[in-house]
Amino acid sequence: MPIDPVPSLLSRATEWLEEEFIALPAFESVIDKDAVAGVLRDVAHRLGDNYPYFHPLYAGQMLKPPHPVARAAYALAMNVNPNNHARDGGRASSEMEIEAVRQIAAIFGWAESEAGFLGHLTSSGTLANLEALWVAGQLAPGKRIVGSEQAHYTHQRISAVLKLEYAAIPADNRGRMDLEALETELRKGDVGTVVVTLGTTAIGAVDPLDRILALRERYGFRVHVDGAYGGYFRLIADALDEPARLAYLATREADSLVIDPHKHGLQPYGCGCVLFRDPSVGRFYKHDSPYTYFTSKQLHLGEISLECSRAGASAVALWATQQLLPLVPGGEFAQGLARGRAAALELDRRLRQSPDLHFQALAGGMPELDIVVWKADGQSVERASQRAQEVFVACATRDLHLALVQLPLSWFQLADCDNDGVESRMVTCLRSVLMKPEHAAWLDRIWERLTASSADRRGE
Ligand SMILES: Cc1ncc(COP(=O)(O)O)c(C=O)c1O
Repeated sequence: MPIDPVPSLLSRATEWLEEEFIALPAFESVIDKDAVAGVLRDVAHRLGDNYPYFHPLYAGQMLKPPHPVARAAYALAMNVNPNNHARDGGRASSEMEIEAVRQIAAIFGWAESEAGFLGHLTSSGTLANLEALWVAGQLAPGKRIVGSEQAHYTHQRISAVLKLEYAAIPADNRGRMDLEALETELRKGDVGTVVVTLGTTAIGAVDPLDRILALRERYGFRVHVDGAYGGYFRLIADALDEPARLAYLATREADSLVIDPHKHGLQPYGCGCVLFRDPSVGRFYKHDSPYTYFTSKQLHLGEISLECSRAGASAVALWATQQLLPLVPGGEFAQGLARGRAAALELDRRLRQSPDLHFQALAGGMPELDIVVWKADGQSVERASQRAQEVFVACATRDLHLALVQLPLSWFQLADCDNDGVESRMVTCLRSVLMKPEHAAWLDRIWERLTASSADRRGE
């Protein structure tokens, strides 16, 4: 593990926080330090039973370590443990949430809009999407929600919870929503909301938001953007390939948008964010709470949120991170995203140029964001899937941690496989989410381990 700067930063900051409350009569909270230390030793030992998510050789799932400033600010806030339901429970942290969310809205050009916007943090992307679809359902009761078959699985489940009918639209061989199939659904006249994913979970595909917005003109529906994974790439839209660039530039026109600071935003888990372009949807949240909202006439975030208690510490950590790394194009944060993407493009390029490894990259083209997927060769789907599994295990023995994903066989070149029923068949593939800025500098070491593991499994 790298030397952790957080304990020393935190100990100074804790003294500063104590000074803020110096006027209160002193009191001591009694803890048995030896007993606590003993338990913490056990905790450290138990936590050793994890993949090393913090390390650049962890290149599997969407797991990015929180920035030290986020960890320190979160831990510091634990001395107060604010609750951002109401100002009664979290005065400073509610203000910090409002400021941090405004900075996120500014990425999409919503913060400057005269009409304003509405937004808040949630405990996850799922909860944020749930709020967006709940509002969508209030605005168009009885109408259907549609999303691509590559949209996150929770959209279907959320719709079921909300008792809204959901339909999956086929995706093309780049994992993007197929617009002809979408239009077929739209012609039925009962689609209330289209969920547009910018950065699908499996391969980081970017649905063509700009073209879907053009269909909105004709058919009239609500557009919800799920940018839980990919939302931050708006900051480097100009560096993306044209279809993705155009999709990101259109985010200003969406009706609602979700982005997860706990994915690409360097935050501890427990931090999603939902934004609504029309602030008047706040009316759907209206409720009375007999217990809270009495210490201030200002907006309490619980008044515009479906959740009641929420970690004020999440807002504090996010605010601190955005102070250090402002969300601006060309800034250090944006450069970090660009480095992960460069690593993904380089891995993809090497896979395409190394036929001796017997892998196949996506036939449709290069990664749109920073997720790379590839199939192993094999005489059958079962053999190709098995080989992917073997390479995955062999890499892990070299401390390189990748992921596996089920993808349609038709997304890959089919030369070596039995083609029967290819449209519907799924094959297990290798997947690498290169979301840490350090991945670019570590790519040679990742490649070395991947090539050695691939040779291993072919008995070379
Ligand atoms: C595109 C997308 N939407 C939604 C989610 C759900 O987010 P969470 O895991 O924060 O609930 C994910 C999670 O990976 C995702 O990738």
